[in-house]
Amino acid sequence: MGKIPLYRNYVDGRWQEDANRREKVINPANAKVIAEAVISSPQIVHEAVDAAKRAQPAWKAVPAPERGELLFEIAQKLKEKKEELAQVLTAENGKPIQEARGEVQEAIDMGFYMAGEGRRLFGQTVPAELPNKHAMSVRSPVGVAGLITPWNFPIAIASWKMFPAIVSGNTVVWKPALETPGMADQFVKILDECGLPHGVVNLVNGTGEEAGNAIVEHDEVDIVSFTGSTATGRAIASKAGGMLKKVSLEMGGKNAITVMDSADINLAVDGILWSGFGTSGQRCTAASRIIVHRAVKQELEEALVAKTRELAVGDGADENTDVGPVIGETALTSIHDYVKIGRQEGELLCGGQILNEGKYKKGYYYEPTIITNVHPSARIAQEEIFGPVLAIIPVNSLSEAIQVNNDSAYGLSSSIFTNNTNEVFRAMHEMDTGIVYVNAGTTGAEIHLPFGGTKKTGNGHRDSGTASLDVFTEWKSVYVDY
Ligand code: NAD
Ligand code: ALA
Repeated sequence: MGKIPLYRNYVDGRWQEDANRREKVINPANAKVIAEAVISSPQIVHEAVDAAKRAQPAWKAVPAPERGELLFEIAQKLKEKKEELAQVLTAENGKPIQEARGEVQEAIDMGFYMAGEGRRLFGQTVPAELPNKHAMSVRSPVGVAGLITPWNFPIAIASWKMFPAIVSGNTVVWKPALETPGMADQFVKILDECGLPHGVVNLVNGTGEEAGNAIVEHDEVDIVSFTGSTATGRAIASKAGGMLKKVSLEMGGKNAITVMDSADINLAVDGILWSGFGTSGQRCTAASRIIVHRAVKQELEEALVAKTRELAVGDGADENTDVGPVIGETALTSIHDYVKIGRQEGELLCGGQILNEGKYKKGYYYEPTIITNVHPSARIAQEEIFGPVLAIIPVNSLSEAIQVNNDSAYGLSSSIFTNNTNEVFRAMHEMDTGIVYVNAGTTGAEIHLPFGGTKKTGNGHRDSGTASLDVFTEWKSVYVDY
Protein backbone atom coordinates (compact mmCIF):
# COMPACT_ATOMS: atom_id res chain seq x y z
CA MET A 1 0.00 0.00 0.00
CA GLY A 2 1.47 3.41 -1.00
CA LYS A 3 1.60 6.30 1.44
CA ILE A 4 -1.85 7.50 2.33
CA PRO A 5 -2.81 10.69 4.19
CA LEU A 6 -3.27 10.70 7.94
CA TYR A 7 -5.99 13.11 9.08
CA ARG A 8 -5.11 14.67 12.41
CA ASN A 9 -6.76 16.82 15.02
CA TYR A 10 -6.38 20.59 15.06
CA VAL A 11 -6.37 21.98 18.58
CA ASP A 12 -5.41 25.52 19.57
CA GLY A 13 -3.95 26.12 16.12
CA ARG A 14 -1.71 23.03 16.12
CA TRP A 15 -2.10 19.84 14.10
CA GLN A 16 -1.66 16.87 16.39
CA GLU A 17 -2.13 13.14 16.63
CA ASP A 18 -3.78 11.49 19.56
CA ALA A 19 -2.04 8.31 20.75
CA ASN A 20 -1.89 5.58 18.12
CA ARG A 21 -5.49 4.80 17.45
CA ARG A 22 -6.57 5.25 13.87
CA GLU A 23 -9.55 4.50 11.65
CA LYS A 24 -9.25 3.59 7.99
CA VAL A 25 -11.03 5.78 5.46
CA ILE A 26 -12.59 3.71 2.68
CA ASN A 27 -13.59 4.73 -0.84
CA PRO A 28 -17.08 3.19 -1.13
CA ALA A 29 -16.72 2.93 -4.93
CA ASN A 30 -14.04 0.25 -4.68
CA ALA A 31 -13.53 -0.50 -0.96
CA LYS A 32 -9.91 0.77 -1.15
CA VAL A 33 -8.29 2.28 1.93
CA ILE A 34 -7.52 5.86 0.89
CA ALA A 35 -6.50 7.47 4.19
CA GLU A 36 -6.48 7.11 7.95
CA ALA A 37 -7.83 9.38 10.66
CA VAL A 38 -6.87 9.62 14.30
CA ILE A 39 -9.36 8.50 16.92
CA SER A 40 -9.47 11.04 19.74
CA SER A 41 -9.69 10.22 23.41
CA PRO A 42 -11.98 12.24 25.70
CA GLN A 43 -8.77 13.87 26.99
CA ILE A 44 -8.12 15.44 23.57
CA VAL A 45 -11.70 16.68 23.48
CA HIS A 46 -11.16 18.30 26.87
CA GLU A 47 -8.01 20.04 25.55
CA ALA A 48 -9.99 21.25 22.54
CA VAL A 49 -12.77 22.61 24.76
CA ASP A 50 -10.17 24.35 26.97
CA ALA A 51 -8.64 25.96 23.87
CA ALA A 52 -12.06 27.09 22.63
CA LYS A 53 -12.93 28.47 26.04
CA ARG A 54 -9.67 30.46 26.26
CA ALA A 55 -10.09 31.85 22.75
CA GLN A 56 -13.71 32.93 23.13
CA PRO A 57 -13.43 36.30 24.94
CA ALA A 58 -10.91 37.68 22.42
CA TRP A 59 -12.92 36.36 19.47
CA LYS A 60 -16.11 37.85 20.84
CA ALA A 61 -14.27 41.19 21.15
CA VAL A 62 -13.36 41.22 17.44
CA PRO A 63 -15.91 43.53 15.76
CA ALA A 64 -18.50 41.44 13.94
CA PRO A 65 -17.81 43.11 10.54
CA GLU A 66 -14.16 42.03 10.89
CA ARG A 67 -15.24 38.46 11.70
CA GLY A 68 -17.41 38.66 8.58
CA GLU A 69 -14.47 39.82 6.44
CA LEU A 70 -12.50 36.77 7.54
CA LEU A 71 -15.44 34.58 6.53
CA PHE A 72 -15.40 36.28 3.13
CA GLU A 73 -11.75 35.29 2.67
CA ILE A 74 -12.56 31.74 3.75
CA ALA A 75 -15.42 31.56 1.23
CA GLN A 76 -13.10 32.83 -1.50
CA LYS A 77 -10.51 30.18 -0.65
CA LEU A 78 -13.20 27.48 -0.69
CA LYS A 79 -14.16 28.74 -4.14
CA GLU A 80 -10.55 28.57 -5.38
CA LYS A 81 -10.24 25.01 -4.10
CA LYS A 82 -13.70 23.85 -5.17
CA GLU A 83 -12.54 21.13 -7.56
CA GLU A 84 -9.91 19.74 -5.18
CA LEU A 85 -12.48 19.59 -2.37
CA ALA A 86 -15.07 17.93 -4.60
CA GLN A 87 -12.57 15.21 -5.57
CA VAL A 88 -11.82 14.42 -1.91
CA LEU A 89 -15.53 14.38 -1.15
CA THR A 90 -16.36 11.91 -3.91
CA ALA A 91 -13.46 9.66 -2.95
CA GLU A 92 -14.49 9.28 0.68
CA ASN A 93 -18.28 9.65 0.46
CA GLY A 94 -18.96 8.11 -2.97
CA LYS A 95 -21.39 10.77 -4.23
CA PRO A 96 -21.10 11.53 -7.97
CA ILE A 97 -18.57 14.26 -8.69
CA GLN A 98 -21.25 16.60 -10.08
CA GLU A 99 -23.10 16.36 -6.77
CA ALA A 100 -19.87 16.80 -4.83
CA ARG A 101 -19.26 20.08 -6.69
CA GLY A 102 -22.80 21.12 -5.80
CA GLU A 103 -22.19 20.35 -2.14
CA VAL A 104 -18.95 22.35 -2.02
CA GLN A 105 -20.84 25.20 -3.69
CA GLU A 106 -23.35 25.12 -0.79
CA ALA A 107 -20.48 25.69 1.63
CA ILE A 108 -19.12 28.53 -0.52
CA ASP A 109 -22.57 30.16 -0.68
CA MET A 110 -22.99 29.81 3.07
CA GLY A 111 -19.58 31.46 3.60
CA PHE A 112 -20.41 34.51 1.48
CA TYR A 113 -23.90 34.76 2.96
CA MET A 114 -22.74 34.61 6.57
CA ALA A 115 -19.85 37.00 5.83
CA GLY A 116 -22.54 39.63 5.19
CA GLU A 117 -24.16 38.82 8.53
CA GLY A 118 -21.01 40.20 10.17
CA ARG A 119 -22.27 43.61 9.03
CA ARG A 120 -25.82 42.99 10.23
CA LEU A 121 -26.37 40.73 13.26
CA PHE A 122 -29.37 42.95 13.82
CA GLY A 123 -31.01 43.53 17.16
CA GLN A 124 -34.09 45.71 17.65
CA THR A 125 -34.82 49.15 19.04
CA VAL A 126 -38.44 49.36 20.20
CA PRO A 127 -40.59 52.14 21.70
CA ALA A 128 -40.24 52.09 25.48
CA GLU A 129 -43.43 52.12 27.55
CA LEU A 130 -42.01 54.65 30.02
CA PRO A 131 -40.65 58.15 29.37
CA ASN A 132 -36.91 58.75 29.26
CA LYS A 133 -36.15 55.12 28.58
CA HIS A 134 -34.46 53.55 25.56
CA ALA A 135 -35.33 49.87 24.97
CA MET A 136 -33.33 47.62 22.64
CA SER A 137 -32.10 44.08 22.13
CA VAL A 138 -28.65 42.87 21.07
CA ARG A 139 -27.33 39.43 20.19
CA SER A 140 -24.46 37.88 22.12
CA PRO A 141 -22.63 34.64 21.34
CA VAL A 142 -23.65 31.53 23.29
CA GLY A 143 -20.01 30.66 24.08
CA VAL A 144 -18.31 27.37 23.17
CA ALA A 145 -20.21 25.49 20.46
CA GLY A 146 -19.86 21.73 20.01
CA LEU A 147 -20.62 20.75 16.40
CA ILE A 148 -21.31 17.11 15.55
CA THR A 149 -21.88 16.35 11.86
CA PRO A 150 -22.73 13.37 9.59
CA TRP A 151 -20.96 11.86 6.57
CA ASN A 152 -23.66 12.46 3.95
CA PHE A 153 -23.01 16.23 3.58
CA PRO A 154 -19.62 16.52 5.26
CA ILE A 155 -18.76 20.05 4.18
CA ALA A 156 -22.15 21.67 3.51
CA ILE A 157 -23.62 20.78 6.88
CA ALA A 158 -20.38 21.70 8.66
CA SER A 159 -20.53 25.13 6.99
CA TRP A 160 -24.18 25.63 7.94
CA LYS A 161 -23.11 25.41 11.57
CA MET A 162 -19.52 26.67 11.54
CA PHE A 163 -20.12 29.97 9.74
CA PRO A 164 -23.04 31.28 11.83
CA ALA A 165 -21.25 30.08 14.97
CA ILE A 166 -18.06 31.98 14.30
CA VAL A 167 -19.51 35.10 12.70
CA SER A 168 -21.55 35.62 15.85
CA GLY A 169 -18.53 35.31 18.15
CA ASN A 170 -18.64 31.72 19.40
CA THR A 171 -15.68 29.40 19.39
CA VAL A 172 -16.01 25.83 18.16
CA VAL A 173 -15.10 22.22 18.85
CA TRP A 174 -16.04 20.15 15.79
CA LYS A 175 -16.33 16.40 15.53
CA PRO A 176 -16.97 15.31 11.94
CA ALA A 177 -18.14 11.82 10.96
CA LEU A 178 -15.54 9.06 11.02
CA GLU A 179 -16.26 8.20 7.38
CA THR A 180 -15.38 11.67 6.00
CA PRO A 181 -12.42 13.15 7.89
CA GLY A 182 -10.77 14.31 4.64
CA MET A 183 -13.37 17.02 4.14
CA ALA A 184 -12.90 18.22 7.70
CA ASP A 185 -9.12 18.28 7.19
CA GLN A 186 -9.44 20.37 4.01
CA PHE A 187 -11.98 22.74 5.56
CA VAL A 188 -9.92 23.41 8.68
CA LYS A 189 -6.71 23.84 6.64
CA ILE A 190 -8.49 26.65 4.79
CA LEU A 191 -9.57 28.27 8.06
CA ASP A 192 -5.97 28.06 9.25
CA GLU A 193 -4.52 29.45 5.99
CA CYS A 194 -6.94 32.38 6.17
CA GLY A 195 -5.62 33.30 9.61
CA LEU A 196 -8.49 32.34 11.90
CA PRO A 197 -7.06 32.97 15.38
CA HIS A 198 -5.87 29.88 17.23
CA GLY A 199 -8.50 28.15 19.35
CA VAL A 200 -11.49 29.64 17.49
CA VAL A 201 -12.11 26.36 15.65
CA ASN A 202 -10.81 23.07 17.00
CA LEU A 203 -11.16 19.78 15.14
CA VAL A 204 -11.34 16.43 16.92
CA ASN A 205 -11.72 13.28 14.86
CA GLY A 206 -13.12 10.17 16.45
CA THR A 207 -16.11 8.05 17.26
CA GLY A 208 -19.48 9.35 18.33
CA GLU A 209 -19.53 7.24 21.45
CA GLU A 210 -16.19 8.59 22.66
CA ALA A 211 -15.28 11.98 21.16
CA GLY A 212 -18.86 13.00 20.32
CA ASN A 213 -20.09 12.04 23.74
CA ALA A 214 -17.20 13.86 25.42
CA ILE A 215 -18.30 17.07 23.70
CA VAL A 216 -21.90 16.58 24.74
CA GLU A 217 -20.99 15.85 28.36
CA HIS A 218 -18.44 18.64 28.80
CA ASP A 219 -19.63 21.31 31.22
CA GLU A 220 -17.91 24.13 29.32
CA VAL A 221 -19.64 23.36 26.02
CA ASP A 222 -22.55 25.79 26.03
CA ILE A 223 -24.38 24.65 22.92
CA VAL A 224 -24.42 21.40 20.97
CA SER A 225 -25.47 21.58 17.32
CA PHE A 226 -25.99 18.11 15.89
CA THR A 227 -27.04 16.68 12.55
CA GLY A 228 -27.45 12.93 12.17
CA SER A 229 -29.85 10.12 12.92
CA THR A 230 -32.85 10.52 15.18
CA ALA A 231 -31.56 7.77 17.51
CA THR A 232 -28.29 9.64 18.11
CA GLY A 233 -30.07 12.99 18.39
CA ARG A 234 -32.37 11.62 21.04
CA ALA A 235 -29.40 10.31 23.08
CA ILE A 236 -27.64 13.68 22.76
CA ALA A 237 -30.79 15.60 23.71
CA SER A 238 -31.34 13.61 26.85
CA LYS A 239 -27.77 14.21 28.06
CA ALA A 240 -27.23 17.78 26.95
CA GLY A 241 -30.78 18.83 27.75
CA GLY A 242 -30.37 17.41 31.25
CA MET A 243 -27.30 19.61 31.66
CA LEU A 244 -29.45 22.59 30.53
CA LYS A 245 -27.32 23.23 27.47
CA LYS A 246 -28.80 24.71 24.35
CA VAL A 247 -29.25 21.82 21.86
CA SER A 248 -30.00 22.15 18.16
CA LEU A 249 -30.94 18.89 16.43
CA GLU A 250 -31.40 18.13 12.71
CA MET A 251 -32.27 14.48 12.20
CA GLY A 252 -33.94 11.93 9.93
CA GLY A 253 -36.57 12.28 7.24
CA LYS A 254 -39.21 10.25 5.40
CA ASN A 255 -40.01 12.69 2.66
CA ALA A 256 -42.87 12.40 0.19
CA ILE A 257 -43.53 13.68 -3.31
CA THR A 258 -47.21 14.01 -4.24
CA VAL A 259 -48.13 13.81 -7.93
CA MET A 260 -51.64 15.10 -8.67
CA ASP A 261 -53.74 14.38 -11.77
CA SER A 262 -53.01 17.82 -13.27
CA ALA A 263 -49.23 17.43 -12.93
CA ASP A 264 -46.70 17.61 -15.73
CA ILE A 265 -45.68 13.95 -15.54
CA ASN A 266 -42.29 14.38 -17.22
CA LEU A 267 -41.38 17.12 -14.75
CA ALA A 268 -42.55 14.93 -11.87
CA VAL A 269 -40.49 11.98 -13.10
CA ASP A 270 -37.35 14.14 -13.22
CA GLY A 271 -38.02 15.45 -9.71
CA ILE A 272 -38.58 11.94 -8.38
CA LEU A 273 -35.46 10.53 -10.01
CA TRP A 274 -33.24 13.25 -8.61
CA SER A 275 -34.77 13.32 -5.12
CA GLY A 276 -35.14 9.55 -4.79
CA PHE A 277 -31.90 8.31 -6.31
CA GLY A 278 -29.54 11.30 -6.14
CA THR A 279 -26.83 10.72 -3.52
CA SER A 280 -28.11 7.11 -3.67
CA GLY A 281 -31.05 8.20 -1.50
CA GLN A 282 -28.69 9.09 1.33
CA ARG A 283 -30.04 12.58 1.98
CA CYS A 284 -32.13 13.61 4.93
CA THR A 285 -34.35 15.24 2.30
CA ALA A 286 -34.40 12.24 -0.06
CA ALA A 287 -37.82 11.32 -1.42
CA SER A 288 -38.74 7.82 -0.35
CA ARG A 289 -42.54 7.96 -0.64
CA ILE A 290 -44.32 8.81 -3.89
CA ILE A 291 -47.97 9.63 -3.31
CA VAL A 292 -49.74 9.50 -6.65
CA HIS A 293 -53.30 10.26 -7.77
CA ARG A 294 -54.79 7.05 -9.17
CA ALA A 295 -55.75 8.84 -12.41
CA VAL A 296 -52.06 9.22 -13.37
CA LYS A 297 -50.53 6.30 -11.50
CA GLN A 298 -49.98 4.02 -14.48
CA GLU A 299 -48.57 6.80 -16.67
CA LEU A 300 -46.21 7.90 -13.91
CA GLU A 301 -45.05 4.39 -13.09
CA GLU A 302 -44.30 3.52 -16.71
CA ALA A 303 -42.30 6.68 -17.30
CA LEU A 304 -40.52 6.42 -13.96
CA VAL A 305 -39.48 2.80 -14.38
CA ALA A 306 -38.23 3.44 -17.92
CA LYS A 307 -36.07 6.36 -16.78
CA THR A 308 -34.86 4.54 -13.67
CA ARG A 309 -33.58 1.69 -15.81
CA GLU A 310 -31.53 4.22 -17.82
CA LEU A 311 -29.68 5.56 -14.76
CA ALA A 312 -25.94 4.89 -14.82
CA VAL A 313 -24.91 3.35 -11.50
CA GLY A 314 -21.17 3.43 -10.90
CA ASP A 315 -18.09 5.06 -9.43
CA GLY A 316 -18.91 8.66 -8.51
CA ALA A 317 -15.54 9.78 -9.90
CA ASP A 318 -16.85 9.02 -13.41
CA GLU A 319 -18.49 12.17 -14.83
CA ASN A 320 -21.21 10.03 -16.44
CA THR A 321 -22.38 8.37 -13.23
CA ASP A 322 -25.92 9.20 -12.09
CA VAL A 323 -26.04 7.06 -8.95
CA GLY A 324 -22.92 6.31 -6.92
CA PRO A 325 -22.28 3.66 -4.26
CA VAL A 326 -23.79 3.77 -0.79
CA ILE A 327 -21.49 4.56 2.11
CA GLY A 328 -20.57 0.99 3.11
CA GLU A 329 -21.36 -2.65 3.76
CA THR A 330 -23.66 -2.05 6.76
CA ALA A 331 -25.75 0.43 4.77
CA LEU A 332 -25.96 -2.03 1.84
CA THR A 333 -27.25 -4.81 4.08
CA SER A 334 -29.74 -2.53 5.83
CA ILE A 335 -31.12 -1.25 2.49
CA HIS A 336 -31.47 -4.78 1.15
CA ASP A 337 -33.24 -5.91 4.34
CA TYR A 338 -35.77 -3.09 3.85
CA VAL A 339 -36.30 -4.10 0.23
CA LYS A 340 -36.99 -7.68 1.32
CA ILE A 341 -39.61 -6.33 3.73
CA GLY A 342 -40.96 -4.02 0.99
CA ARG A 343 -41.44 -6.92 -1.41
CA GLN A 344 -43.84 -8.41 1.13
CA GLU A 345 -45.56 -5.06 1.61
CA GLY A 346 -45.96 -4.13 -2.07
CA GLU A 347 -45.07 -5.06 -5.63
CA LEU A 348 -41.53 -4.65 -6.98
CA LEU A 349 -41.45 -2.60 -10.19
CA CYS A 350 -37.69 -2.46 -10.71
CA GLY A 351 -34.35 -2.93 -8.95
CA GLY A 352 -34.26 -4.80 -5.68
CA GLN A 353 -30.74 -6.21 -5.77
CA ILE A 354 -27.28 -5.55 -4.41
CA LEU A 355 -24.95 -5.04 -7.38
CA ASN A 356 -21.80 -7.08 -6.78
CA GLU A 357 -20.59 -8.45 -10.08
CA GLY A 358 -18.19 -7.16 -12.74
CA LYS A 359 -17.39 -3.49 -12.20
CA TYR A 360 -19.47 -3.51 -9.02
CA LYS A 361 -17.54 -6.34 -7.37
CA LYS A 362 -15.43 -4.26 -5.00
CA GLY A 363 -17.75 -1.38 -4.03
CA TYR A 364 -21.10 -0.96 -2.29
CA TYR A 365 -23.74 -0.56 -4.96
CA TYR A 366 -27.51 -0.92 -4.83
CA GLU A 367 -29.94 -0.92 -7.74
CA PRO A 368 -32.37 2.01 -7.81
CA THR A 369 -35.55 0.31 -6.60
CA ILE A 370 -39.27 1.06 -6.89
CA ILE A 371 -42.00 -0.78 -5.01
CA THR A 372 -45.65 0.07 -5.71
CA ASN A 373 -49.08 -0.37 -4.12
CA VAL A 374 -47.61 0.23 -0.69
CA HIS A 375 -49.93 0.95 2.23
CA PRO A 376 -49.18 4.26 4.03
CA SER A 377 -48.59 2.38 7.28
CA ALA A 378 -46.16 -0.17 5.77
CA ARG A 379 -42.66 -0.20 7.26
CA ILE A 380 -41.07 0.95 3.99
CA ALA A 381 -43.52 3.88 4.02
CA GLN A 382 -42.72 4.83 7.61
CA GLU A 383 -39.05 4.09 8.38
CA GLU A 384 -36.05 5.98 7.03
CA ILE A 385 -34.21 3.62 4.65
CA PHE A 386 -31.41 5.98 3.59
CA GLY A 387 -30.91 4.27 0.24
CA PRO A 388 -32.21 4.37 -3.35
CA VAL A 389 -35.65 2.92 -2.63
CA LEU A 390 -39.05 4.44 -3.50
CA ALA A 391 -42.43 3.32 -2.19
CA ILE A 392 -45.42 4.31 -4.35
CA ILE A 393 -48.69 4.96 -2.50
CA PRO A 394 -51.85 5.52 -4.59
CA VAL A 395 -54.51 8.02 -3.42
CA ASN A 396 -57.84 9.39 -4.68
CA SER A 397 -57.68 13.06 -3.71
CA LEU A 398 -55.50 15.91 -2.47
CA SER A 399 -56.98 15.56 1.02
CA GLU A 400 -55.92 11.92 1.14
CA ALA A 401 -52.49 12.83 -0.26
CA ILE A 402 -51.95 15.44 2.47
CA GLN A 403 -53.08 12.99 5.13
CA VAL A 404 -50.59 10.38 3.88
CA ASN A 405 -47.85 13.00 3.55
CA ASN A 406 -48.36 14.03 7.18
CA ASP A 407 -48.72 10.48 8.49
CA SER A 408 -45.05 10.27 9.39
CA ALA A 409 -42.96 10.48 12.52
CA TYR A 410 -40.66 12.82 10.58
CA GLY A 411 -41.28 16.30 9.15
CA LEU A 412 -38.42 17.51 6.95
CA SER A 413 -39.43 18.01 3.31
CA SER A 414 -42.57 17.58 1.15
CA SER A 415 -43.21 18.20 -2.50
CA ILE A 416 -46.24 18.46 -4.75
CA PHE A 417 -46.45 18.34 -8.53
CA THR A 418 -49.66 20.01 -9.71
CA ASN A 419 -50.90 22.66 -12.11
CA ASN A 420 -53.82 23.59 -9.89
CA THR A 421 -53.20 26.82 -7.97
CA ASN A 422 -55.65 25.93 -5.24
CA GLU A 423 -53.74 22.69 -4.59
CA VAL A 424 -50.45 24.60 -4.44
CA PHE A 425 -51.69 26.80 -1.61
CA ARG A 426 -53.37 23.95 0.25
CA ALA A 427 -50.13 21.95 0.12
CA MET A 428 -48.11 24.93 1.28
CA HIS A 429 -50.38 25.43 4.29
CA GLU A 430 -51.32 21.85 5.15
CA MET A 431 -48.15 19.81 4.61
CA ASP A 432 -46.58 19.77 8.06
CA THR A 433 -42.90 19.70 7.17
CA GLY A 434 -40.17 22.31 7.59
CA ILE A 435 -39.75 22.59 3.81
CA VAL A 436 -42.39 22.38 1.02
CA TYR A 437 -41.55 22.33 -2.69
CA VAL A 438 -43.99 22.99 -5.52
CA ASN A 439 -43.23 21.40 -8.91
CA ALA A 440 -39.76 20.35 -7.74
CA GLY A 441 -38.50 17.31 -5.81
CA THR A 442 -37.84 17.19 -2.06
CA THR A 443 -34.12 18.02 -2.24
CA GLY A 444 -31.91 20.96 -3.09
CA ALA A 445 -32.59 23.55 -0.41
CA GLU A 446 -30.74 26.87 -0.67
CA ILE A 447 -28.80 28.44 2.16
CA HIS A 448 -30.78 31.69 2.31
CA LEU A 449 -33.80 30.11 3.97
CA PRO A 450 -34.01 28.16 7.24
CA PHE A 451 -33.28 24.43 6.85
CA GLY A 452 -34.80 21.86 9.16
CA GLY A 453 -37.90 19.98 10.08
CA THR A 454 -40.73 19.31 12.46
CA LYS A 455 -41.62 16.31 14.65
CA LYS A 456 -38.79 13.75 14.98
CA THR A 457 -36.69 15.57 12.39
CA GLY A 458 -35.82 18.49 14.59
CA ASN A 459 -36.31 20.23 17.90
CA GLY A 460 -37.42 23.61 16.63
CA HIS A 461 -34.07 25.08 15.62
CA ARG A 462 -32.86 25.59 12.06
CA ASP A 463 -29.59 25.47 10.15
CA SER A 464 -28.94 28.00 7.38
CA GLY A 465 -30.60 31.34 6.72
CA THR A 466 -30.69 34.00 9.40
CA ALA A 467 -32.57 31.46 11.57
CA SER A 468 -29.19 29.81 12.21
CA LEU A 469 -28.06 32.99 14.00
CA ASP A 470 -30.81 32.36 16.55
CA VAL A 471 -29.14 29.03 17.34
CA PHE A 472 -25.73 30.54 18.00
CA THR A 473 -26.75 33.76 19.76
CA GLU A 474 -28.62 34.69 22.90
CA TRP A 475 -30.92 37.69 22.97
CA LYS A 476 -30.03 40.35 25.49
CA SER A 477 -32.61 43.08 26.24
CA VAL A 478 -31.10 46.40 27.30
CA TYR A 479 -32.94 49.33 28.93
CA VAL A 480 -31.20 52.69 29.23
CA ASP A 481 -32.81 55.36 31.40
CA TYR A 482 -31.81 58.88 30.47
P1 NAD B 1 -25.24 9.33 13.04
O1 NAD B 1 -26.27 9.78 13.99
O2 NAD B 1 -24.81 7.93 13.09
O3 NAD B 1 -23.90 10.19 13.21
C1 NAD B 1 -23.89 11.60 13.12
C2 NAD B 1 -22.74 12.13 13.94
O4 NAD B 1 -22.99 11.86 15.32
C3 NAD B 1 -21.39 11.49 13.63
O5 NAD B 1 -20.38 12.46 13.72
C4 NAD B 1 -21.25 10.46 14.76
O6 NAD B 1 -19.92 10.11 15.03
C5 NAD B 1 -21.88 11.22 15.92
N1 NAD B 1 -22.36 10.37 17.01
C6 NAD B 1 -22.80 9.08 16.95
N2 NAD B 1 -23.16 8.65 18.18
C7 NAD B 1 -22.95 9.67 19.04
C8 NAD B 1 -23.14 9.85 20.44
N3 NAD B 1 -23.63 8.88 21.21
N4 NAD B 1 -22.83 11.03 21.00
C9 NAD B 1 -22.36 12.05 20.23
N5 NAD B 1 -22.15 11.94 18.90
C10 NAD B 1 -22.45 10.78 18.30
O7 NAD B 1 -25.77 9.71 11.58
P2 NAD B 1 -25.10 9.41 10.17
O8 NAD B 1 -25.30 7.98 9.82
O9 NAD B 1 -23.71 9.96 10.13
O10 NAD B 1 -26.00 10.33 9.21
C11 NAD B 1 -27.18 9.89 8.63
C12 NAD B 1 -28.39 10.44 9.37
O11 NAD B 1 -28.30 11.85 9.42
C13 NAD B 1 -29.72 10.15 8.67
O12 NAD B 1 -30.68 9.79 9.62
C14 NAD B 1 -30.08 11.49 8.04
O13 NAD B 1 -31.46 11.68 7.80
C15 NAD B 1 -29.55 12.43 9.06
N6 NAD B 1 -29.34 13.76 8.45
C16 NAD B 1 -30.19 14.77 8.81
C17 NAD B 1 -30.06 16.04 8.23
C18 NAD B 1 -30.98 17.17 8.60
O14 NAD B 1 -30.61 18.33 8.40
N7 NAD B 1 -32.17 16.91 9.13
C19 NAD B 1 -29.04 16.27 7.30
C20 NAD B 1 -28.20 15.21 6.96
C21 NAD B 1 -28.34 13.97 7.56
N1 ALA C 1 -29.20 20.89 0.38
C1 ALA C 1 -29.39 19.48 0.55
C2 ALA C 1 -30.79 19.06 0.26
O1 ALA C 1 -31.71 19.82 0.45
C3 ALA C 1 -29.03 19.00 1.91
O2 ALA C 1 -30.98 17.94 -0.09
